Amino acid sequence: MKIRYVSVVLILLICIVQKPACGIGNNCSIIPAPASASWGKGNFIFSDKTHILVSPLNSETKRSSDLLALLIMNPTGHTLTVAEGRKAVVGSVLMVLDPSVKNDEGYQLSVTPNGVTIYAKTAAGLFYAVQTIRQLLPPEVEKPVIIKGIQLTLPVCVIADKPRFAYRGMHLDVGRHMFPVASIKRYIDMLALHKLNTFHWHLTEDQGWRIEIKKYPRLTQIGAFRKETVAGPQKKVNNTFDGTPYGGFYTQNEVRDIVKYAAERFITVIPEIEMPGHAIAALTSYPELSCTGGPFEVRKLWGVDEDVFCAGNEHVFNFLQDVLTEVMELFPSKYIHIGGDECPKKRWEKCDKCQKRIKDEGLKNELELQSYFIRRIEKFVSSKGRNIIGWDEILEGGLAPGATVMSWRGEQGGIEAAKSGHNVIMTPGKYTYFCYYQSENHDDQPLALGGYVPLELVYGYNPTPKELTAEEQKHILGLQGCLWSEQIPTPEILEFMAYPRTFAIAETGWTPDRQKNFESFVLRLKELGKRYDALGINYFKGEYRDTKAQKEQK
Ligand code: ACM
Ligand code: ZN
Repeated sequence: MKIRYVSVVLILLICIVQKPACGIGNNCSIIPAPASASWGKGNFIFSDKTHILVSPLNSETKRSSDLLALLIMNPTGHTLTVAEGRKAVVGSVLMVLDPSVKNDEGYQLSVTPNGVTIYAKTAAGLFYAVQTIRQLLPPEVEKPVIIKGIQLTLPVCVIADKPRFAYRGMHLDVGRHMFPVASIKRYIDMLALHKLNTFHWHLTEDQGWRIEIKKYPRLTQIGAFRKETVAGPQKKVNNTFDGTPYGGFYTQNEVRDIVKYAAERFITVIPEIEMPGHAIAALTSYPELSCTGGPFEVRKLWGVDEDVFCAGNEHVFNFLQDVLTEVMELFPSKYIHIGGDECPKKRWEKCDKCQKRIKDEGLKNELELQSYFIRRIEKFVSSKGRNIIGWDEILEGGLAPGATVMSWRGEQGGIEAAKSGHNVIMTPGKYTYFCYYQSENHDDQPLALGGYVPLELVYGYNPTPKELTAEEQKHILGLQGCLWSEQIPTPEILEFMAYPRTFAIAETGWTPDRQKNFESFVLRLKELGKRYDALGINYFKGEYRDTKAQKEQK
């Protein structure tokens, strides 16, 4: 099999003119840029005789063959047949699972005028090859509208591709504002199109609990609704409120549907259940889980609340373990995110139960109490065969064994965690928070949380800090863009804030660092813009340059 494959590649290479991979002057339109690509003369033409042969043909591999068949059928009306087969046939597309392909998500795609072959180690690799093919086809494939006389072709090429990082993610906060299932699916679609493989779903917040938990119905009967919301930009004093109740939640059936939809696109959904802070919605529902006993109301302002889960109360741990048990039944992900960020210690300092816990456990202070809290939860989660992720505050007071750190307050937390042998996902706010403005002049922008994170800055971010040795850098699993939804009230604004910055995260997560080039990226973005338009995506089309950095350089 190997010898046959090598000879096919050699024959191809002889007739191929080598061009730089996806650089300026190359009209390719692939984001993320492939690890290696050579472009030749001529095309493969899809016809009504084209078959897709797949080996083995099963429910996993069929997702890719069916997707390709759909893309071709949309504008041409040709129904490509999909059948089992592992031998290339002239005029056909061959998709083969081949254990000799090295990377789990990698693929090798070759196109000649005679046919298309794809070899991948896993079904995910086949899926990514089809996303590449999709981006090489015209935007007309995105809509089920038959265009008379259209001919779909692929340029002759050899692409050997694999990701730089195993974790390539996007986050979405649905606590502050939530989005319909259909728009979450559109979000997942855009992640899949750009070979991102993780959707971090931030499901609980001070401003709303958004996931149905059968054992604790008050979480969604009460905790999912706030009376009103601060209007406009939040001020220190004298805020005005919109006077409109806001709320909602995802039922367990909806959650299952989204997890399945994502899995069909080789995307893992990681749920986040916040603790010990960001818990006011839960405490409004069950005030006995707080230090003071309440009463509380689901938060109407943004920002951090001083009331948090009581770390001295056994009921809190029983409650959270019950919640996590239901969550783990819904989400098969290896990782469960338990938050851990922004937990004020003011209530714990004054609470008899918390102080007794500190004494009984021989803890030094409230920071160690937070560490005790997270360690206990980590023990429970790992007893179920899963691993926790926490924001970088979980380093304070000592990191729980087996915890993976999401470094958001900069890279320092990630560096410290990697140096102590823990895995890290880089999400430094300065580069990866898309709740901030994307142009310096934002008069014509929807209200954002402030800040300035233009596309060029996101694109230029390298998640492997120089402070780490090569060995320590192996602990950097990857990176993620984050969308906090305080100022994202609608699906349209969600898309505007997410794109194209998400695509920059996708390229950093996938493409070898030495091959990244912002000019090339922007050119490809312009080309892909036609596809986003066909898909009806509301993306930011303004200034992609970091104008502030340029001014500072002058
Ligand atoms: C965070 O932005 N509080 C993780
Ligand atoms: Zn307490």
